[in-house]
Amino acid sequence: MHPSSSEALRIRPGQPGDEAALLQICLLTGDGGGDATPLFEDPDLIGLWYAAPYLHLPSTLAFVAEDEAGVAGYIVGAIDSRLYHQAFVREWAPRIARRFPDPPDDRPSRTQDDDYRRRFHHPEFDDPPWFESHPSHLHIDLLPRLQGRGIGRRLMDTFLDALTSAGSGGVHLGVGASNHRARRFYRRYGFTELEPVDETTSGSVSLGLCLPRPSTSPARHAPLS
Ligand SMILES: CC(C)(COP(=O)(O)OP(=O)(O)OC[C@H]1O[C@@H](n2cnc3c(N)ncnc32)[C@H](O)[C@@H]1OP(=O)(O)O)[C@@H](O)C(=O)NCCC(=O)NCCS
Repeated sequence: MHPSSSEALRIRPGQPGDEAALLQICLLTGDGGGDATPLFEDPDLIGLWYAAPYLHLPSTLAFVAEDEAGVAGYIVGAIDSRLYHQAFVREWAPRIARRFPDPPDDRPSRTQDDDYRRRFHHPEFDDPPWFESHPSHLHIDLLPRLQGRGIGRRLMDTFLDALTSAGSGGVHLGVGASNHRARRFYRRYGFTELEPVDETTSGSVSLGLCLPRPSTSPARHAPLS
């Protein structure tokens, strides 16, 4: 039986031992908020990119939500995205890429697995204009049993308090344009679009939130105007 209220739920810092749970949650929420299992032959690839490295690399923060059945949600991110990306390219990607060969770029029937494997062999990250104002980034995913109970907000509060204490001035994230539930959640939280959105494409939307300075008002995350 799963608990029916968030009282039975614990939020704590993530640890390397949570990696298997994070890989599974990332897969089960990786298709626009829904289950990405049918998209992958190797179920770990998506989480090895988007979730697990935050348990291991410098300049990261990770918190998990755990109920009686185990870890069922996380929020992970980097305080300084540039430092994080450097460590990802230097340390993490080579460590993971050793597990599989580099798929040829011109293979006629490229799969999602091929795309991720190539990304680990040739990691590249954009340096968008909002890095100066929003240097941090995050990913949040809850299994369905934790969704719609206010737990996303609790995780976000915990994460943003830690980011604020670390001195970050702002945080950004990417969300699938068709993931309307997540977009609503971020909007309610105060995130705003960092660039114009083309609602006719199935791409990603970039959102940002400015953070208060710790000495002025540590508990609030309303966007600064
Ligand atoms: C997107 C996501 C993080 C949002 O977290 P969430 O906690 O489920 O947030 P939701 O907005 O869906 O649910 C909050 C709702 O729970 C309900 N709720 C029930 N009890 C609550 C409580 N104690 N406190 C607050 N809300 C509560 C409310 O109806 C609230 O809606 P409201 O803010 O309009 O009143 C989560 O649904 C998720 O992980 N989805 C799948 C993965 C995903 O899409 N991740 C984002 C990828 S970019």
